[in-house]
Amino acid sequence: MKIGIFDSGIGGLSVLHEAYHRLPGQEYIFYADTEHVPYGTKTPEEIVGFAIDNAQFLIDKGADALVVACNTATSVAIKELRRRFDIPILGMEPAVKPAVEGTEEKRIMVIATPVTIREDKLRDLLHRVDEEHRVDLKPMPKLVEFAEKEMFDTPEVIEYIRSSFADYDASKYSALVLGCTHFNYFKPAFRDFFGSDTLLVDGNFGTVHHLADVLSLDMNSDQDTEVYFDDYHKMLGQSKTEYYFSKKFIEDEKTLEHLKRLHNRLEEVRKL
Ligand code: DGL
Repeated sequence: MKIGIFDSGIGGLSVLHEAYHRLPGQEYIFYADTEHVPYGTKTPEEIVGFAIDNAQFLIDKGADALVVACNTATSVAIKELRRRFDIPILGMEPAVKPAVEGTEEKRIMVIATPVTIREDKLRDLLHRVDEEHRVDLKPMPKLVEFAEKEMFDTPEVIEYIRSSFADYDASKYSALVLGCTHFNYFKPAFRDFFGSDTLLVDGNFGTVHHLADVLSLDMNSDQDTEVYFDDYHKMLGQSKTEYYFSKKFIEDEKTLEHLKRLHNRLEEVRKL
């Protein structure tokens, strides 16, 4: 089984990383559309066009199923992708349901890109699951840029988080939903800001679980395995992964080292 995973950039790597944990035996093709990142501040029409190109590319490379590892592309393009392509295509949406079900009373903050926050898909989801109106929404587009520059714990990031929530009382939130796959890298900064009682909820486990169901694959239940890489050859060998940045096959040492560092970062922050 060859599974294609795409995002506008390195956010989707967090989904691939979770797949390494749960579905280690599959083959993966990872596609980051780095020529067009960020998606979250573009028009829906542009994003649909990029998503179609990315999907076509992965299908041409032999993908048997696709994961749109991008909440933004899912919110505007998932229907069109499913209409055009005849393989299983899974999308992602902010994990509001588990956040609502896993907490009581206190409020829930959902952060995502401006497009995800604006689109009907999230409104419909809130309509279905946020019966008590506990959810607040906040677009945080700059985090995508920071992530692409590999800036995760820098003073600029800390200040951006602080100023974004200047008008909110962090102690009122029982959960922070990471509604953009790029936001996983910032878990330590969110943890510091919101404190240890606030759940950080991402959609990665749910997505991989859904993928396993759709493809009838057995998930690895061993929670203790760690997925760190001491060199990039091991990373490439892991589930035979091919990496592409906007149609360019990644084989140069510098970019592979970058990807390896990102996987190690994701492992480091996974359980926060
Ligand atoms: N990682 C993406 C998401 O999950 C999109 C980020 C962007 O390109 O703006 O929404």
